[in-house]
Amino acid sequence: MQQSEPSEPPPGTSRPSADRIGVVILAAGKGTRMQSRLSKLVHPVAGLPMVRQVVALGRQLRPAVTALVVGHDADQVAAAAGDGVEVVMQADQLGTGHAVLQARDALADRADLVVILYGDTALLRVETLRRMLDVAQDAALVILTYVRGSSPVHDAVSASYGRIDRDERGRVAGIIELPGSRRYDEIQEVNAGVMVARAAWLWEQVGRLPKSPKGEYFLTDLVAPTVAAGHRVEAVHPSDPDEILGVNTQAQLADVNRIAMDRLRTRFLDAGVHMLDPATVYLDSTVQIEPDAIIQPNTHLRGRTTIGRGSEIGPNSIVEDTTIGERCRVIASVLEQAWVGNGVTIGPFAHLRPGARIEDEVELGNYAEVKASTIGAGTLIHHVSYIGDATIGAGTNVGAGTITCNYDGEQKHRTTVGEGAFIGSDTMLIAPVTLGDGARTGAGSVVNRDVEPGQLVVGVPARPIRRARTARPANGPETVTDPTPGDASPAQS
Ligand code: UD1
Ligand code: CA
Repeated sequence: MQQSEPSEPPPGTSRPSADRIGVVILAAGKGTRMQSRLSKLVHPVAGLPMVRQVVALGRQLRPAVTALVVGHDADQVAAAAGDGVEVVMQADQLGTGHAVLQARDALADRADLVVILYGDTALLRVETLRRMLDVAQDAALVILTYVRGSSPVHDAVSASYGRIDRDERGRVAGIIELPGSRRYDEIQEVNAGVMVARAAWLWEQVGRLPKSPKGEYFLTDLVAPTVAAGHRVEAVHPSDPDEILGVNTQAQLADVNRIAMDRLRTRFLDAGVHMLDPATVYLDSTVQIEPDAIIQPNTHLRGRTTIGRGSEIGPNSIVEDTTIGERCRVIASVLEQAWVGNGVTIGPFAHLRPGARIEDEVELGNYAEVKASTIGAGTLIHHVSYIGDATIGAGTNVGAGTITCNYDGEQKHRTTVGEGAFIGSDTMLIAPVTLGDGARTGAGSVVNRDVEPGQLVVGVPARPIRRARTARPANGPETVTDPTPGDASPAQS
């Protein structure tokens, strides 16, 4: 708090209670300088649309209502913001003050304190907003300000920000918007673009803002009349200067993304996650990592991904919307919308696609691809396989080059393999097909009929041979040295 001397008590009869907060997010602007067909506000910051990050921030205050003011690309922006907001239309973008005015009916009598956020300022911290709310208990308006001059990045971004005009006693007197005036250029304290306002005062005043020379109604023009009416306007500084960084260009978006990810990395490092080179670990804010996980360089963890304790991911891996249990090892692989149990090894160069469910202690090796399939515990798929629309039982050995031929040109069909089966190298499983527990196929088999439990089939098309083996030898063969038509002669009958 900069202000020393108390002026008039804030308007309104009772002190506002903490559960009567309303949030207004301004998101109607165009964002021309991004040079993108997408709205600026839907560009992702740490994996979520910028505007959704701001919605999530506001939600931490447990507001009674959140109003999102949209205009340009309204549908895109509203969709990106997600649920739980009341969307308000600002058909013509007549300035930040005019934008706030559009939210008046949505907030109506539901809030005593109004927190105004900008959709393009995604690095604010909730602690800063809480501090502003505390100060707002005894002020009509609270603004967030930053003093330029200590960092090139922050100075560049804030070069066009509104300047804080203070009186001879150091009290906030107004905000000067237009660059070029002498006073503007002399002042180094800038308006970060967050305001907390007493609702009664805000709704009374925001409809009376003067029209700027640009023909807009500036929210910042609320400050001077508030001071003139004898009410307090307080300025709060962010604890972290990055909080003031708005996004107007792709370069600024890259900076903001890097900072957002750095915060996530720091959080995980503090929580006991090991990273050899954190700067090369790319994280979305929706990711969870348990302590003692190791994230190796050049690894991308995206979406709703969870990494269990003691698992090691990377180097060179992409994991998206996937749950990985404890003590797993993933090397140079791509996992999307998959589920992985405990003690599983994956890669190098494996690909789990949506619906892959990999149970405990499975080993998936080089060039294994699994889609919409369950792989039972302890099963080995070490080399060059495609398993799609299948259920493979526990303890089965899938030989090199095994393919589930799941698509007949018109429809997808399922393959089912029992437990303890042995699929010979280069076996084609023509779905729909079922192989029982302990079934075996010879190398190069093309299996287009169901196989009984314990039965050995060989050939093209694969047919049973008499000498069915029911159990794997104790010191079973290596994955690639399977029974072949030669090691068990075809049926004579
Ligand atoms: C605004 C502030 C400035 C502050 C800066 C910080 C005003 C007049 N100026 O300037 O003091 O330093 O932010 O970033 O408030 N918007 C609408 N409807 C409109 C206009 C804007 O919804 O009619 C939204 C934009 O989408 C954006 C936010 O309000 O999210 C800020 O608007 P912008 O035009 O970027 O304001 P600045 O000129 O940067
Ligand atoms: Ca701006």
